[in-house]
Formats: sequence, structure tokens, C-alpha cells
Amino acid sequence: MNLSQRSFLKLLDYTKEEIEYLLDLSADFKNKKKNNIPHEYLKGKNIALLFEKTSTRTRCAFEVAAYDLGMHVTFLDPQSSQMGKKESIEDTAKVLGRMYDGIEYRGFSQSIVENLAASAGVPVWNGLTNEFHPTQMLADFLTIKENFGHLKGLKLVFCGDGRNNVANSLMVACSKLGVNYTLAAPKSLWPDENLVNICKDIAISTNCQIEFEEDIIKATKDANCIYTDVWVSMGEADNIWEERLNLLKNYQVNMNVLNNASQDVIFLHCLPSFHDLNTTIGEEIYKKFGLKEMEVTDEVFRSKYSKVFDEAENRMHTIKAVMYATLKDKDE
Ligand code: CP
Ligand code: NVA
Repeated sequence: MNLSQRSFLKLLDYTKEEIEYLLDLSADFKNKKKNNIPHEYLKGKNIALLFEKTSTRTRCAFEVAAYDLGMHVTFLDPQSSQMGKKESIEDTAKVLGRMYDGIEYRGFSQSIVENLAASAGVPVWNGLTNEFHPTQMLADFLTIKENFGHLKGLKLVFCGDGRNNVANSLMVACSKLGVNYTLAAPKSLWPDENLVNICKDIAISTNCQIEFEEDIIKATKDANCIYTDVWVSMGEADNIWEERLNLLKNYQVNMNVLNNASQDVIFLHCLPSFHDLNTTIGEEIYKKFGLKEMEVTDEVFRSKYSKVFDEAENRMHTIKAVMYATLKDKDE
């Protein structure tokens, strides 16, 4: 499998076999890390991390993965660089492409990361845009595979904002990997029709179903994997909270929902999550609207079904696989 010098912008650009290869490579890197087997395969290379939105997991995953591979890292955000305010993304990409071997970008429109990749001359990795979060998917499906031993034929249900970056990406990833995808959400939060049609076409070839349901109990019946994400994503207006809470309050993942799923169900969340009052936003929402937990209850979050911290750890192993596969020499 040769992915050398490819960018990783969205899963739609990758074949089923290529995604499976990246998952296998991730498992191999995880095993090496656990057994203290050195893997500085990209010694001497340099990468830049561009973040126009905040991050804990993605930034740390890229940094640790890069160090483990023997690379050097520069982190840039809008406050500490010219990016965006004084210099276009295109010019920034051209400059960074002259100095770095690879560039990660987290920010707003998918078109920004696509333009960056078109101008940089080196691989560009999407660390989250408004539309997609592809590196998250590799961690999610590695976690699912670790729990079930396989992917094909499983049922994954996403509860919440069905058109956000994570939900869009899950629908694509499921269709590519032959996992049945059901969205539990009110109609107004169902995804873009074009993307749905693309995924349904792919799902025909991988023999799985892409379904949409307003009733969360119907949707989650027999689910192997229940997934949720924050109800308001980064970059959305602050004044959207009230409307979104009203739309999604009946789509919270609680024990009632989990008990309705398959016996072997696991719970996943890309994180960060509002499952208690130990965050500034969680506290504000409680004061304003009286809600103590949002997309998932604390009980589910901390239950034996919850694999969210394995999933978070897997961000690092999977991002390592993406960087290695795209930066290694062709014939290695
Ligand atoms: N899941 C995820 O992308 O987390 P961060 O926003 O912390 O990077
Ligand atoms: N949908 C969330 C994902 C965070 C990892 C957001 O964009 O804020």
C-alpha cells in the first residue's frame, strides 16, 4: 500500500482498503509503543501544526506521535503567527511547504484545508474542519475493532447534531467500512443531502445501511456502538445554545438508551464532553437552563460500556500511522 506524499483531508478521498491499511498500521504502532519498541522511522523530518481552533487531544496526539517517530514539531495559532490576519492561508502554505515535510491544519471551512493542500507541495492532514474530522475516525474505528474484533456488519448509532463534523465523518467512515449507520436526530439536524447520497452509493458496494430516525429508542435498538458529541460545535454562535438544547434534549445518551441497545454495546464520544458541571460552559448552561448533563449522562460516561479514554489514546496511535504512511519514502 503506497500512500506516500498523499494528503489526508477527508475519508471520501481514501478507499476502503487504504483505510483498513491505516487501521492495521495503527494497531501495529500501538503494539510497538506498549512494548517499548523504538520506531523513530522519520528521524530528521519536521512538521508544522496550524490550529485556528482550540484542541487538547489532536494537538497532543500529533506532537507525541511526531516525537515518537523522531520528528521535530512547530505549533502555530492565530495569536502567534501571521496566518489569516496578515497572510492568506495559500501564502502561509507555500512558505511552510518550503520548510516542513508535512502540515496539520485545524480550523473552519473544509475548503481552507483543501486549498492548503493544493498549495503546500507537502502532505497536509486535516485535524478538524467544520465539515469533517477524519483523524478522529481512525481512532474511533480502531477502538471499535479492538472491542468487537471486526467492523463489517456492526451497527453504529450517532445521537445528536447529525450534520456536524464528527457525524458527517462517521457516516462516511461507516459507509466505507461496511458498518450500518443510523442517525438519531430531529429532521432539522440531518446531514446535507448530497453527502447522504454519496454515502448511500458507497454503502451499496460495502453492503450496509445508512438510516435516519427521529425516535432515539427506535434508532438505538440493537446498536453495537452508541456515539455522541457536543450539541454545539466550535465556531458556532453562542446564541444558538438555547435552540440547540431544545432540539436535542430528547437525544441525550442515558442508561435508558443504552439498555435498549445490544448487550455488547459500547459508548463512544470524541471528547471533550459535557457530562457533569466541572467545566465553565457546563456550569453556565446549568445556571441558565437548569441542565446538569448534556449529550451524555455522567452515569453512562463513567460506566463499563464507555470506551472514551481508549478512544482518546487511540488518537495518538492512529495519527502516527497517518503521518508515517504519508511521509515515508515510496519504497520503504
Ligand atoms: N476529539 C478531539 O478532536 O479533541 P480536541 O478538540 O481536544 O483535539
Ligand atoms: N463537533 C465538535 C468536535 C470536537 C472534537 C466540534 O467541532 O467542536
